[in-house]
Amino acid sequence: MINNETIEAERTRVCLTIGRIAPDFTAVTTEGPITLSQYRGKWVLFFSHPGDFTPVCTSEFIAFAQLQPEFEKRNVQLLGISIDSNPAHLGWLYDIFQMTGIVMPFPLIADRDASIAALYGMVSPDRIYEQSVRDVFIIDPNQRIRSILIYPATNGRNMYELLRLIDALQVSTTYGVSTPANWMPGDPVIVPVASTLDEAIERGMDPESLELNCLAWWYCFTDLSELTPLPNP
Ligand code: BEZ
Repeated sequence: MINNETIEAERTRVCLTIGRIAPDFTAVTTEGPITLSQYRGKWVLFFSHPGDFTPVCTSEFIAFAQLQPEFEKRNVQLLGISIDSNPAHLGWLYDIFQMTGIVMPFPLIADRDASIAALYGMVSPDRIYEQSVRDVFIIDPNQRIRSILIYPATNGRNMYELLRLIDALQVSTTYGVSTPANWMPGDPVIVPVASTLDEAIERGMDPESLELNCLAWWYCFTDLSELTPLPNP
């Protein structure tokens, strides 16, 4: 039931957005206690699921586990969360182990009082109504939130899209470039728009001399191999 207290709590809740520092927390997990800040220096894919012993969630955990080497290659720590208890998590992960032989290779938080879920806006009356309970926070090595995705309970996430987004975020961070629609690793990237008139004219008149492919002075692509990493990404 939505009462005044709930409405007030919702109104005053800090709205977590891309660019904010991910609030730190300590939690009970299937791998023992953890603190979010212990993963500083790594990317973190922090994701919630509606509940243990449910089919879509099970398929997601199996998919995450199978792609763990790909996340590891990208310096990404997977971190799951739900409001189930640690014994429930252990029972569910044991069943997954029995079904598939997979030992879940990342911690799963038992957020019994939903305090972490509340901190991250993973639960609220309208969201429960909408069943929008598969959240993904991509957190960078400085503990800054770089992307937030929300999926409904009925539809599992695409792990390949999450890997692609991480690749794109890492390229943007390292080289200061953007990536176009449907970008895949190896595709050309978009360079920042010209900042002086001379630069704009050069891009418009002779982009090849700058190793650029420009469709307009403000719409230029290049290959990543032409770029050098930023000094302090
Ligand atoms: C599932 O994971 O299968 C699921 C969980 C909550 C609601 C609907 C489906």
